[in-house]
Amino acid sequence: MPDESHFATAPELVPVPDDYAPYSRTSLKQYQERYRRSIEEPDAFWTEELRRLDWIKTPTEISNVNWDPDNLSIEWFADGVLNVSYNCIDRHLDQRGNDVALIWEGDNPGLHSAITYRQLHNHVCRMANELKKIGVTKGDRVTLYMPMIPEALYAMLACTRIGAVHSVVFGGFSPDSLAGRIKDCESEFVITADQGVRGNKPIPLKENVDRAIEIAGGVKAVLCVRHTGADIGWVEGRDFWHHELTLQVDANCPPEPMNAEDPLFILYTSGSTGKPKGVLHTTGGYLLWAAMTFDTVFEVERGEVFWCTADIGWVTGHTYLTYGPLANGVTTLVFEGIPTYPKADRFWEVCDKHKVNVLYTAPTALRALMREGDALVEAHDLSSLRLLGSVGEPINPEAWAWYHRVVGKGKCPIVDTWWQTETGGCMITPLPGAHDLKPGAASKPMYGIEPALVDGEGHFIEGEGELTGNLVIKRSWPGQMRTVYGDHKRFAETYFSTYRGLYFTGDGARRDADHYWWITGRVDDVLNVSGHRLGTAEIESALVEHVDVAEAAVVGYPHDIKGQGVYCYVTLNAGVEPTAEMEAELKAHVRKEIGPVATPDVIQFAPALPKTRSGKIMRRILRKIAENQLDALGDTSTLAEPGVVDDLVANRPQG
Ligand code: WT7
Repeated sequence: MPDESHFATAPELVPVPDDYAPYSRTSLKQYQERYRRSIEEPDAFWTEELRRLDWIKTPTEISNVNWDPDNLSIEWFADGVLNVSYNCIDRHLDQRGNDVALIWEGDNPGLHSAITYRQLHNHVCRMANELKKIGVTKGDRVTLYMPMIPEALYAMLACTRIGAVHSVVFGGFSPDSLAGRIKDCESEFVITADQGVRGNKPIPLKENVDRAIEIAGGVKAVLCVRHTGADIGWVEGRDFWHHELTLQVDANCPPEPMNAEDPLFILYTSGSTGKPKGVLHTTGGYLLWAAMTFDTVFEVERGEVFWCTADIGWVTGHTYLTYGPLANGVTTLVFEGIPTYPKADRFWEVCDKHKVNVLYTAPTALRALMREGDALVEAHDLSSLRLLGSVGEPINPEAWAWYHRVVGKGKCPIVDTWWQTETGGCMITPLPGAHDLKPGAASKPMYGIEPALVDGEGHFIEGEGELTGNLVIKRSWPGQMRTVYGDHKRFAETYFSTYRGLYFTGDGARRDADHYWWITGRVDDVLNVSGHRLGTAEIESALVEHVDVAEAAVVGYPHDIKGQGVYCYVTLNAGVEPTAEMEAELKAHVRKEIGPVATPDVIQFAPALPKTRSGKIMRRILRKIAENQLDALGDTSTLAEPGVVDDLVANRPQG
């Protein structure tokens, strides 16, 4: 008898498990009816959905959208007035004031705490008053560069309380990257901590902030949380300790009434060209989308514990760690550490310790943990888990099967949620209990979402049976980004011009005969490395900044753990030797310029890069060489110097 555990791939269809029936809130029929209504009677649908939030003024206008790139404008609930922190905290106080809002689990397994909604109210009000005290006013951009500690969430919510716009920068980004983001949105305020800790290693957050401010300029005040107690530099008059200011401010701060279309936050993300762009989300539409999709996809009940393992530096950490759970008044778990510290069973230990009911994580983490063997999972009691989620990249069948069988014991559905920083929340996902699962498929559109496929010329690919093409969305939804901060033209060009009047996702997709959607990955020059989005252009520009580099081209290649690895072709200046030391130096250089997530996996020194006669680098060929698909290089006859390719193939680093 073959042992099930040795099956390398997942079955094609996994029916909704009977064990899930007690939790299921949406049947297939209900999903179909609600979806139909959301598309055919959107105004009626959204008028009902609005009741999920507490409005100071309930909107009467639903949407006002023009996707023509020349007149691009997107508004939802435009005459509505509300406050995000009120919706995430105050309105729960009567009924749920003593419920736990957030559980914090430290990097050090000995450290954890629980904060109730009442305590959260107190912390957020105080921090909001601290922000006022250091000069922050409505509409100001506040940059957050924080470890995963409760104060990070307090800071986000404190901004929303007073109508300031937060821009969270991942704590793993370099001072240069941080500086670029501070500058781009002209942020005069930064909230940080002395240090972060991950895997028992300190992260010099305040030191990085100091360097970033030197580079960017323009920062008036820094609010610093004391976390590790490390010695740090201090600029009198500019830097303020949170623990000192908090004693000087009132524990009550009235929530600022905000228009639904007032900016809520900026989050920088990489595109196929240029610098990272500031994705802008607004107040009403984003919060409703976060609240509705969280509730619909994860079905978390009062008393349950939801754990999203994403960092607040990414959109998942905004929508499903912070705003979605808190808007719904349930418990969110905030984890400071990494999956492998102190041992590679940390996720399972945390699930057991805090009796996690829903776990939402990324395929890259699963692939890394799968390697460590089943025993590490089996050593812990995971019986509290009822639902598992995946996000960030397509999940491969092996990882899906392992997640389902070893972590979920075959009784937990897996929701594979496809979405983007730009979309604010889940766009294509199965609903647990409603949809039979197809491992690897993002499955079915969320309410209000109308996906479609187009070919290279922008013609719709339609019909029954299996279809493949570029994924576009045909109509607006409340959680959609509203602009690229400070560059509305770039917003129009990036998303609405490739296929005029349609939102272009940058992803390729397949719709199978059962109308399940499968995401096949980016079709542009964006890499997905361990679920982190990186633009090849950013890495290239970091490389050519090095004095010895003449030219660079970066592509992705399949990587067992990371999904995609970073493969760099580098042409050195004449007279510079391509040594192992130079290779190490360039890797360290990119790491320093952008951050550890962007560290190149492979550097291939190339005397020249393959170019067309008009001088355009032929990335298609570079990708094939990186993927080791040497017999699929295709037509090289249009190259200026075909011999360049032979040289690259002959000198491809082994491994
Ligand atoms: C890109 C967006 C969504 C929050 C985390 C990433 C890829 C994301 C899936 C999925 C296949 C996925 C896409 C997308 N992606 N989720 N479930 N299946 N691909 O947000 O950094 O904005 O990246 O991640 O390629 O375009 P992001």
